[in-house]
Amino acid sequence: MEKDPYDLRGKVAMVTGGSRGIGRHLAIFLAKRGVSVAVGSRNLEECEKVVREILAKGEEAQAFFLDVSDPKSISRMVQGVLAWKGRVDILINNAGTNVRKPALDFSEEEWDLIMDTNLKGAFFCAQEVARAMIRGGGGKILNVSSAAGGMPVPWLAPYSISKAGLNQMTRILALEWARYNIRVNAIAPSYIETPLTREWLKDPKRYEMLTKRSPMRRLGTLSDLEGAVLLLVSDASAFITGQVIFIDGGSSAGWALDWERSSQGEKGGDS
Ligand SMILES: NC(=O)c1ccc[n+]([C@@H]2O[C@H](COP(=O)([O-])OP(=O)(O)OC[C@H]3O[C@@H](n4cnc5c(N)ncnc54)[C@H](OP(=O)(O)O)[C@@H]3O)[C@@H](O)[C@H]2O)c1
Repeated sequence: MEKDPYDLRGKVAMVTGGSRGIGRHLAIFLAKRGVSVAVGSRNLEECEKVVREILAKGEEAQAFFLDVSDPKSISRMVQGVLAWKGRVDILINNAGTNVRKPALDFSEEEWDLIMDTNLKGAFFCAQEVARAMIRGGGGKILNVSSAAGGMPVPWLAPYSISKAGLNQMTRILALEWARYNIRVNAIAPSYIETPLTREWLKDPKRYEMLTKRSPMRRLGTLSDLEGAVLLLVSDASAFITGQVIFIDGGSSAGWALDWERSSQGEKGGDS
């Protein structure tokens, strides 16, 4: 029988920032497809909850303490995963943080926190896992970037800059590691309701403004990420590397059309 290129059964994945939000969702999503998942974050207790949820469904998972801003902590988690399963096939490089304020008001501490988590952390996770992947014959690295990495967003200076850097890192590592059979890609979601964005999206005016700005007239959901993730971490994307896939309902394609005005016969878009 022909092998299903989307089949992930028996693979081993490491998910950074797996305690909540997107990381938690993707850890459970992969486990449902038969992947053994190592769930890491600074909150071991929350990671253990995610692991219990996975174990209760009869799949395999293990929790690890991980602070991605500390390369020693990354190394300890990767060694732990290797001691547990002997290899890492998939890295979901997801841990991330954000501070929202005008560029004039950022402190050095805030800049360092965002960069050390979103960019330095992602780089050293990729480096440490790649070393193990090279020994194991290859693997897939998926960076969780952001729509804000492609489009500059005011009040998100360090975040937006860190994600633009992550996109460039995705391409550079893809070029360097193709020879080792390691593919490196990224997803770049727009707003999705998670603990990171929940408070901010609570304002009804802001919510309306953001949905109106979206060509598909809605924000993203966690399940909107699943298709691209499955594609990029499976053999279905065997010839895709160095790519950033925007999961944003078309926002990065251009200006959203005003549905009401255009249905009344007005032309869309100004020039
Ligand atoms: N939600 C959105 O709208 C959206 C859109 C685009 C991109 N993203 C990206 O998606 C990723 C996840 O975001 P989210 O919305 O799920 O946010 P979230 O709910 O706040 O979750 C962030 C995760 O990152 C972990 N984390 C933060 N700092 C860490 C560190 N130093 N070491 C290890 N883990 C760390 C947190 O775990 P602990 O606190 O337990 O350590 C948590 O599990 C981020 O990279 C974010 O930039 C989110």
